[in-house]
Amino acid sequence: MGLRNCPEEFGLVTRALHWTMMVIILGQLALGLRLDSMEPGLANLWLYGLHKTIGFAVLALILIRIAWHLASPPPPPLGPHGPTFWIARAVHWALYLLLIAIPLTGWAGSSATGIDVMIADRWTVPPLVEASEEAETFWFGLHDILTKLLMALIALHILGAVKRQIGGDGTLTRMIRGKA
Ligand code: HEM
Ligand code: HEM
Repeated sequence: MGLRNCPEEFGLVTRALHWTMMVIILGQLALGLRLDSMEPGLANLWLYGLHKTIGFAVLALILIRIAWHLASPPPPPLGPHGPTFWIARAVHWALYLLLIAIPLTGWAGSSATGIDVMIADRWTVPPLVEASEEAETFWFGLHDILTKLLMALIALHILGAVKRQIGGDGTLTRMIRGKA
């Protein structure tokens, strides 16, 4: 079983990163939505801490994934270079960009509250912006919009993958087993 990607196949590292990150990101989206319906207080502060820690883990993992794909490029989408091919490519790129931008906006919004931003209640990260109510509203507003965009693109991504698999080109099989 190859660790690296080949021109036609997904290697084990890419597949493991894809499915592990999928679980983490779906959990993180659900947790974020839960936080949005809460008032921060002593009883639920740990949930905010958990969301921030998972957010930093996503940021680290997406940077590792990009570095890995520079070292071992993944195969392009299957099939002719028609609109579906380019839409799939564009959605993949947009997902990468959002998975960098979303943690950064969450980090900026949290910095703007003036409270120390911590990873795992242990390591304090430097603030990205100065504390102010305007900055807090702006960065969390952007965090909110970008997470909604992420949800829409994930839905599109899943629809595309399932549609192509049903169409019989083996797109989904390739991300599960490596080969189409
Ligand atoms: C990929 C990573 C992340 C995802 C998918 C994500 C997702 C979300 C979602 C869906 C919400 C609810 C937004 C709303 O409806 O207003 C939210 C809120 C929040 N996020 Fe994130 N987040 C991520 C990373 C981070 C990071 C790294 C931090 C901070 C260091 C952070 C801090 C927060 C905070 C404090 C809230 C609550 C904001 C409020 O009460 O208005 N997030 N997040
Ligand atoms: C949080 C959710 C998800 C994210 C962020 C995500 C992201 C990505 C990205 C960036 C790629 C491009 C290759 C790579 O970088 O590894 C990809 C490929 C792929 N994803 Fe996802 N994915 C998610 C969920 C899913 C789900 C639920 C399915 C299955 C229904 C799926 C099926 C696939 C398939 C089949 C490919 C290969 C596409 C091809 O051959 O062109 N993904 N995904």
